[in-house]
Amino acid sequence: MSRPPLPDFFDDLDACREALWRLLADGAERGRSGFHLPALATVDAEGRPRLRSVVLRAADAGSGTLRFHCDRRSDKAAELAARPACALQAYDADAKVQVRIEGTARLHTADAVAEAAWAEARAMSRVCYGTEPAPGTALAEGGAYTLPDAEAALTLGRPHFAAVTVRAERLDFLYLDRRGHRRAGWRRAEAGWTGTWLTP
Ligand SMILES: Cc1cc2nc3c(=O)[nH]c(=O)nc-3n(C[C@H](O)[C@H](O)[C@H](O)COP(=O)(O)O)c2cc1C
Repeated sequence: MSRPPLPDFFDDLDACREALWRLLADGAERGRSGFHLPALATVDAEGRPRLRSVVLRAADAGSGTLRFHCDRRSDKAAELAARPACALQAYDADAKVQVRIEGTARLHTADAVAEAAWAEARAMSRVCYGTEPAPGTALAEGGAYTLPDAEAALTLGRPHFAAVTVRAERLDFLYLDRRGHRRAGWRRAEAGWTGTWLTP
C-alpha cells in the first residue's frame, strides 16, 4: 500500500511552526478539527493542576496568541486571575499532530476584545453566561438551575462573559508518522521565537 507523501513541514523547522499556527487557526474555524477543543490547564490556589475542554475561538501567529471564552464566575476564570500561567493541549488525528502551548492568560471583561468577542458569540452561547446560580455551584438536583432566553441573555449574560487571550511563551509540536516522528519546540524571546528539533 502506498503511503501518502510526507508533509511539507517534515524536515523544515520554520514550516513546523507555521503549520502549528495554521492548524490552530483552522481549528478555531472548524468544529471537526481536533484543535477546536483544546484542553486548558490552570493551577489552583493549592498549586494543583486543573484541566478542562474549551472551544478555541482564535489563534494568531503574528502575535502568538490564542483566545477562548468563559464565565467570569467559573473556577478557571478565578484561577487565571490569581495565576495567569496556563497551558493548552490538542491533537488532531487527521493531521497526526499534537500541539502544546504554555503561556500567560489575560481576562478581558470590559475592553474592546471582550466587546468584539461578545458581539460575535452566537445566541446559543450567550445564553450559557446567564445561568443561575453561578457555574460550579452545588445543586440539590441536577436541573436546579436556570438559563435566560436569548433576549434576556444580552443583559443577564454579558456581565458574566470573559474573553481570555493566552500569550504563548512555549510551543511544542509533535507529528506522528511511521517513517519517523518529528518533534519541535520553541520559546519566545525578545527578538522572536527560537526553536529546535527535539527527540520525539
Ligand atoms: C465540548 C465542550 C466545550 C466546552 N467549551 C467551553 C468553553 O469554551 N469555555 C468554558 O469556559 N467552558 C467550556 N466547556 C466546559 C468546561 O470544560 C468545564 O466543564 C466548565 O467550564 C467548568 O470548568 P471550571 O470549573 O474549571 O471553570 C466545554 C465543555 C465541553 C465538553
